[in-house]
Amino acid sequence: MKFGYFDDANKEYVITTPKTPYPWINYLGTQGFFSLISNTAGGYSFYKDARLRRITRYRYNNVPIDMGGRYFYINDNGTVWNPGWSPVKTELDKYECRHGMGYTKISGKKNDLSVNVTFFVPQDYDGEVQQVVLTNEGSADKSFALFSFAEWCLWDAQDDSNNFQRNFSTGRVEIDGSVIYHKTEYRDRRNHYAFYSVNDSIDGYDTDRDSFIGLYNGFNNPEAVLAGKATNSFADGWAPIASHYKKITLKPGESKTLVFVLGYVEMPQAEKFEADGKTINKVKAKAMIEKYNTPEKFEAGMKELKAYWNRLLSILSVSTPDEKVDRMVNIWNQYQCMVTFNLSRSASYFESGIGRGMGFRDSNQDVLGFVHQIPDRAKERIIDIASTQFPDGGCYHQYQPLTKKGNADIGGDFSDDPLWLILSVSSYIKETGDWSILDEMVPYDNDMSIAQTMLEHLKVSFYHIVNNLGPHGLPLAMRADWNDCINLSCFSDTPGESFQTYTNPKFAAEGGYSKVAESVMVATLFTYSGPNYVEILKHLGKDDEAAKAQAEIDKMKKNIMESAWDGDWFLRAYDANGEKMGSKECEEGQIFIEPQGFAIMSDVGKEQGADLKTLAAIDERLNTKYGLVLNNPAFSKYYIQYGEISTYPGGYKENAGIFTHNNAWIICAAAYAGQGDQAFKYYSEIAPAFTEETSDIHKTEPYVYGQMIGGKDAGSDIGQTGKNFGQGKNSWLTGTAAWNMVAISQYILGIQPDFDGLSINPSIPHEWDGFTAIRRYRGATYNITVKNPNHVCKGVVSMEVNGTSVNGCIVPVVEGQKEYNVVVTMG
Ligand code: GLC
Ligand code: GLC
Repeated sequence: MKFGYFDDANKEYVITTPKTPYPWINYLGTQGFFSLISNTAGGYSFYKDARLRRITRYRYNNVPIDMGGRYFYINDNGTVWNPGWSPVKTELDKYECRHGMGYTKISGKKNDLSVNVTFFVPQDYDGEVQQVVLTNEGSADKSFALFSFAEWCLWDAQDDSNNFQRNFSTGRVEIDGSVIYHKTEYRDRRNHYAFYSVNDSIDGYDTDRDSFIGLYNGFNNPEAVLAGKATNSFADGWAPIASHYKKITLKPGESKTLVFVLGYVEMPQAEKFEADGKTINKVKAKAMIEKYNTPEKFEAGMKELKAYWNRLLSILSVSTPDEKVDRMVNIWNQYQCMVTFNLSRSASYFESGIGRGMGFRDSNQDVLGFVHQIPDRAKERIIDIASTQFPDGGCYHQYQPLTKKGNADIGGDFSDDPLWLILSVSSYIKETGDWSILDEMVPYDNDMSIAQTMLEHLKVSFYHIVNNLGPHGLPLAMRADWNDCINLSCFSDTPGESFQTYTNPKFAAEGGYSKVAESVMVATLFTYSGPNYVEILKHLGKDDEAAKAQAEIDKMKKNIMESAWDGDWFLRAYDANGEKMGSKECEEGQIFIEPQGFAIMSDVGKEQGADLKTLAAIDERLNTKYGLVLNNPAFSKYYIQYGEISTYPGGYKENAGIFTHNNAWIICAAAYAGQGDQAFKYYSEIAPAFTEETSDIHKTEPYVYGQMIGGKDAGSDIGQTGKNFGQGKNSWLTGTAAWNMVAISQYILGIQPDFDGLSINPSIPHEWDGFTAIRRYRGATYNITVKNPNHVCKGVVSMEVNGTSVNGCIVPVVEGQKEYNVVVTMG
């Protein structure tokens, strides 16, 4: 069942009912100011950091689920409604929500009054601009009242949600004409404020929540709206809000357009106040309001935003036999990559914005799907991340985007972290050809006095693995590897201990974690990512160092085959008791997805057919119609030696859920191994556009990936196996976005940036006759035509570049050449 449709020409998803199976959201803003907005206008705004600079308030896990937002209320002679239906939920005569690239349009109609609201965050602008167009579509005059509404958050979202003894007394506002200023703590220790304006006179306002809503009412029936009149309340403590009230009369056919701005301003300490030392200096706010105070300026801003996205998305566009692939690659997957790049795992409808900042592993992986869009921003991000590394190659697991400092409360010792830096730096060089990133001086632990070159950071990353091996010569698992829920040094039996940060005191003497528990996943990630480091060294003429590093990779491959090959697939780990995890010998959790793809892509055991055996086992044991489950069989009881993974009921999250992020590794691996049909099958099982038809089952947005889909074992604990199978959760902020971008564009379509140029080596469904693509790369345009006359899955028999045939799969770079017409023939 569908709840809308794709409008590819406008790059929009059009939602046709407000009652989607879950709030379906969009993100506004790509630089400093961000807003989340649902299809009923729920959500919130923040500046740079969803925890430390929260501007408006949102109520996570509320009843109903989507509570808090920027709401417009209409009181039309006693009929009270919102153009986005919620929170009043008066049945509308018409409703539509269009989520586009960086904007959302919500329109509702009731009793001949139509209200179209467009929300967007302009480029280089710290505010959300909202244009409200009200039209009388009836044949008689219409008089009604319009109320806007936003609720201020007292800046630190964590403190805001628990420190009520203080916060109920600190809220402050200032009102100046039609502008409501939120200046809580501005007098004291903050140099920033927020405001909510409208470009017209108003007939009243409210700034105190209880006066507007009423202590015993809700967002669905605010007293002021019901009364059809604002109370002109002035917040002093309690909960400050901003609501404009305007009386409007429209003749038949007449329209009125209003432009609202919800903005954020920072002021230098010395210029915070006017001469009286009390009134806030509004110069910057006024300039911001001025910038978008007419419909013409609004349109110009929207036009600029669209041009920005058209330009970004034109860097890669494809035309394949499958329109769903095209809409994922050309529009939505790339769009999601930008969002995950910007926000890591901080703020979504499942991530509260206070739990995590930017993740070391997460953000490095996000770069892989984003780097082609704005390489300069990717470079800056890579440097920020690397700055939280320690001299021994370990690193802080997370950092706050506002301060860019590592989070000490989470700490480090996640065994996979350093390797992702090798991949992100390599992907940046492969995209841009800019080797100078390796010469950048990058601090350790944010301390510039001990800075080293980025190349040195790669070296310590690589050797951090080599220097931390266990009894089988495999990397120590430490607190956890990529799978945060395999906690082999935890042995937790006390509620409240964090599986990620708690290590059992029994390992104190060993430095905090078991020196026996080993991760096969990190071993294969090492053999997959390590060769990039070797290539880099060779390029720099450091052949000795390259040979030394290569020897470590070869040794690791040998160790894997000797100790971690289970006969038909690769083991997952050795636990702290030295027992195998992810083996046929285990009672549950016999096979895990994570180590397999990287092993296949680094040819571990290829001569013995390990790659094909592994792919066959995955297909048999892990695949389902909704994607590949993480492990099988699911754990049905708590394994104290494994930790969090066995705390989830089977079929959810890391315990045999379809954890879509790692599905991409198998898609890549199947494509790499020449199994284009299989690769495409796994791709289409989880790609959002392919789940649109089953939105009632899938529940989350059909235009973006989520972290998890309920697996085949879901419900097994309660004797209802299959319950919630196929149900998506935790949409938007997931490494799935970047990795599936890599999977479809670089492995299936095979357009892969390499150190020496663009490589084209597709692995596609055999039915395809071919496809075309346009790729802008290192300042040139590549017009690519792939022909598949013999209907193979993989194999390039010839490549012609500008009419001349070339050997191999890499398009040779010709200095100064701006256009490459490439014809690839498969066979
Ligand atoms: C979450 C985390 C990611 C981790 C994954 C598997 O998506 O953001 O860092 O790798 O879960 O546990
Ligand atoms: C939980 C989640 C995992 C996430 C981790 C870190 O373990 O299951 O996906 O990465 O928390 O917050």
